[in-house]
Amino acid sequence: EKGTYPHYMLKEIDEQPIVIRKIVKEYSDNQGDLQIDQAIVDAVKAADRLYIVAAGTSYHAGMIGKNFFERLAKIPTEVHVASEFVYNTPLLTKKPLFIFISQSGETADSRAVLVKIKELGYNALTITNVPGSTLSREADHTLLLHAGPEIAVASTKAYTAQVAVLAILAQVVAKGKNIDTKIDLSRELSIVASAMETLCDHREDFEKMAREFLTDARNAFFIGRGLDYAVCLEGALKLKEISYIQAEGFAGGELKHGPIALIEDGTPVFALATQENVNLNIRGNVKEVVSRGANACIISMKGLEMKGDAFVLPEVHPILTPLISVIPLQFISYYAALHRGCDVDKPRNLAKSVTVE
Ligand code: F6R
Repeated sequence: EKGTYPHYMLKEIDEQPIVIRKIVKEYSDNQGDLQIDQAIVDAVKAADRLYIVAAGTSYHAGMIGKNFFERLAKIPTEVHVASEFVYNTPLLTKKPLFIFISQSGETADSRAVLVKIKELGYNALTITNVPGSTLSREADHTLLLHAGPEIAVASTKAYTAQVAVLAILAQVVAKGKNIDTKIDLSRELSIVASAMETLCDHREDFEKMAREFLTDARNAFFIGRGLDYAVCLEGALKLKEISYIQAEGFAGGELKHGPIALIEDGTPVFALATQENVNLNIRGNVKEVVSRGANACIISMKGLEMKGDAFVLPEVHPILTPLISVIPLQFISYYAALHRGCDVDKPRNLAKSVTVE
């Protein structure tokens, strides 16, 4: 039930801090150490490469997951859009493990890949919010998101839950491989949960940003580098699906290779700046669009902020920034859709679970 909330989407955005805390609890042992079913850890450890397969928002979570598996657990990882993978299967390594990420566990595109790779004799792990869903039943292993039912068509809390579960899996596998990641992930995730609360308290700022940047906008761009790029794709998807504003996410460095031609006087460009190693680069990219007339909205993180930034996120561990940088973008999409009188929870042409290929 949405209770006092006008929309499920707003309620589900707000639930994210609780979901992160719940996930940490569900994946902790009695000592408070993170744990994952040993059979799953062994399956991941045994793989020479991970193939993450997903669609839409879950694919964007997969892009973050690739970073976790490669940076923390040192396992080469590829991320694939399910509908592409199934008919254009890449050359596979000798010992692949497939990881399906799906909120509903029912997405037909992902299921088609699962059927195919099972025929080939490979193992699969499904990360899903729905116990007993098709993708869970047909895979060898399941990890649950514990996000509670997600009703709004636009995925919010399932995305952050997916990112958190992927981080925990990568961290536990790293430990199983005796890799010291130097991250106290339980602690860092509780810092994330608190930061999320702070952001939810700032929703009015994001409503103002939606008014300032998106009233009358025909289109909008999201630019970022590294982890921020993946979040930009998610921010753009969220905005387009519920507000019907044409929105695209671009890697900051790619702008000059084409997309910059789209910048006109007043074009809204949201830029994420949470990654220290590319902070100056993304700032340079913002200058390039501003000098062509863009209306830039920079969302940075504490410690990396500069004069003129529209919002400074509370500091979290650099690898976990996608869990918090997405929240302003969720709110901005929500309010942009609301201001335009769109049906926020049930956008046109979309279904919550896509059961046809
Ligand atoms: C976007 C959205 C969709 C889903 C996609 C995959 O807000 O909800 O892009 O993420 O259809 O769905 P699942 O995760 O259920 O496989």
